[in-house]
Amino acid sequence: MEQKQLNQDLAKLRENLGLFPEAVANPGFVVVTGLPGTGKTFFCRKMAEKQSFCILESDAIRKALFPSPDYSTTESARLFAACHSLIEWLLKDGVPVIFDATNLSEHNREHLYRISDRTGARLVLVRVEAPPALAYQRLQARKNGAAPEDKSDADWDVYRQMKPRAEKIRRNHFAVDTSRDITPVIDKIIRTLNR
Ligand SMILES: Nc1ncnc2c1ncn2[C@@H]1O[C@H](COP(=O)(O)OP(=O)(O)OP(=O)(O)O)[C@@H](O)[C@H]1O
Ligand SMILES: [Mg+2]
Repeated sequence: MEQKQLNQDLAKLRENLGLFPEAVANPGFVVVTGLPGTGKTFFCRKMAEKQSFCILESDAIRKALFPSPDYSTTESARLFAACHSLIEWLLKDGVPVIFDATNLSEHNREHLYRISDRTGARLVLVRVEAPPALAYQRLQARKNGAAPEDKSDADWDVYRQMKPRAEKIRRNHFAVDTSRDITPVIDKIIRTLNR
């Protein structure tokens, strides 16, 4: 049953993917981590303006699979199983991927490390940060409907609930502070990926 459900979810998501970038050998695989409102989605879009990637945004995928999401453990388990399978399928085909999700625990990230090892992708980890006061302001603006295309429902309560769950990244990674100009670090990441 579970496998059947996963296959159905994958079929649905593949239909919605649209065009993806040209396949390459050892595609880039950019994994972002960070609390709500730190600017992950903003950063991912800026990255993809500089170089083609298929962006998989967990919040958008959640809404594609669950039009009225409940953020339950079962829902999230089904969501991330689908995300991980989709990522592996794309990377195996040589499609560069950016995975836009909070990815706060090492346990979550382990799945991604293993996918990267299995597919020969070039993994780049990015810790996205912003001063809490700025994240607060952004999440308040979200609540007031500042950006209607925003797929995330996370607010300051969610930020506070998630904060203790953020674990240090044990691997080499880039740090991006979105209260500053992010262009230099994006250029650096692109250079690292293309080396
Ligand atoms: N560097 C930046 N410069 C200007 N605005 C920014 C920047 N980073 C983020 N923002 C704005 O702040 C808001 C929140 O950012 P964003 O949606 O990228 O956060 P997020 O980390 O993806 O949050 P979530 O985990 O809830 O998806 C958005 O409206 C975004 O446009
Ligand atoms: Mg986001």
